[in-house]
Amino acid sequence: MTDIHAHILPDADDGSSSLESSLAMLEREVAFGITDVVLTPHYHPRRGYAKTAAELKELFAAFAEEVAARGIPAGLSLGQEICYGEREDVVGMLDRGELLTMNGTNKVLLEFSVSRPPDDISEIAYKFSLHGYKVILAHAEIYPWLDLKTIASMKAEGCFVQINGGSLLRGSAGAAKRRAKALLKDALVDWVASDIHSFRPCDWGKVREKLRKYPADFFGKIG
Ligand SMILES: [Fe+2]
Repeated sequence: MTDIHAHILPDADDGSSSLESSLAMLEREVAFGITDVVLTPHYHPRRGYAKTAAELKELFAAFAEEVAARGIPAGLSLGQEICYGEREDVVGMLDRGELLTMNGTNKVLLEFSVSRPPDDISEIAYKFSLHGYKVILAHAEIYPWLDLKTIASMKAEGCFVQINGGSLLRGSAGAAKRRAKALLKDALVDWVASDIHSFRPCDWGKVREKLRKYPADFFGKIG
């Protein structure tokens, strides 16, 4: 059971500011039955998260060593949640190795501004595919401007869809919850992930309860 979107890597973004909190977050994931986690720190320069790929790889190696030393049975890999704006050359940065794909595959986890879509949203799958990349839409349910029809057509063009487990639970914003459920109902979801931060834990027990009626596997490995 793989969690493909998690802000557990310490000191990489707003996910966790200490090793101990990161280890506690990871242990909680394992206790819920998660076997593999892709660590996906933010690339979001406007919010101040712009660590280089080299810096992230260094943080990852140190964390993975600590996790192994403590015997925590979680398979770790590294990715990045990249905030996409049409003014930034994200594809070029990926090509130059300045940004990270998911676990070294051709898949790229993208988020967008919640308030407005990038001008080239309808061409994103195509633009990334020209350079061999496949886009995973991070928490596709949270955007008021991204309706089901658009998500379905992006998926038809080769994008993958990830939703946050927490969006299915009580307490999440009503519209995001409605969209998350509609995406599941229409079989448009490829992954359900935690998007865990230290300030926002994920109750996997309740999430899995909500997913029980859907036959698909939402926790596949990134391949
Ligand atoms: Fe995230």
